[in-house]
Amino acid sequence: MRKILIVGNWKMHLNASQASLLLHRLHERIKIHRDVEVVLAPSMLVLQPLSVQIDRRKFRLATQNAFHIDEGAYTGEVSFTMLRDLVHYAIIGHSERRHVFGEPLDLIRDKVAAAVRNEITPILCVGETKTEKVAGETEKVLHDQVVSGLSNMTAREVAKMVIAYEPVWAISSGSNYAHHEIATPEQVERVAKFIRHNIEELYGPKAAKMVRILYGGSSNAENAKAYLSTPGIDGLLPGGASLNYHEFSGMVRTAYRLQRERIEA
Ligand code: 13P
Repeated sequence: MRKILIVGNWKMHLNASQASLLLHRLHERIKIHRDVEVVLAPSMLVLQPLSVQIDRRKFRLATQNAFHIDEGAYTGEVSFTMLRDLVHYAIIGHSERRHVFGEPLDLIRDKVAAAVRNEITPILCVGETKTEKVAGETEKVLHDQVVSGLSNMTAREVAKMVIAYEPVWAISSGSNYAHHEIATPEQVERVAKFIRHNIEELYGPKAAKMVRILYGGSSNAENAKAYLSTPGIDGLLPGGASLNYHEFSGMVRTAYRLQRERIEA
């Protein structure tokens, strides 16, 4: 059974004291569960202080980004090498990195490789924009993002990775705030199946069976059950809802409940 993964992407929110307070509140509400992994992705600035405060039996940390070269004259950047003992996961290729910062496919591929080289598990984000969806290009876009993002990886490495499907049109935080749409579980199921099929063709059935696929885009405590019950979906990547401790801990509790039902079944 694949472990459920709930990853809170705090994006560019919360300074050190706000982040510490949110962690404290989550700690009070979230229990240890063997089959559910809870990951927090705060800003780079607060990774270090949170790593000291965190209960490692309950939470793991993720970076929202890093630079693909290990060391050198790159003013303003932080490398995966510098983060290797601090984080378990790295969000790579988030749509805001792709579209706001113009990160191209080959840079994202290099970041995936740098994370793996530094023993950090990539959470590779893929997803089509509204324009691409309307033009009927969803599968082509996802295929390109998956194939290029994983192109330097072995089947064994892919098996351990996480892929997050985040349709850009369904993301609620940031510039989309006023007019995002909701992805239905049926749409999400179709895409998860398509991604797993791509992985199977490229890396074989074992990698396809083991790779975890998350959904992200307006997920919250209310809709968590529907998305987490969607066949092929192994977890969630909330943005806005991860900043609210009621919402985020509610999502984690839903994951506990579903996982318990699965174990008992
Ligand atoms: P929202 O949950 O705010 O829609 O954001 C999703 C996201 O981009 C997480 O990475």
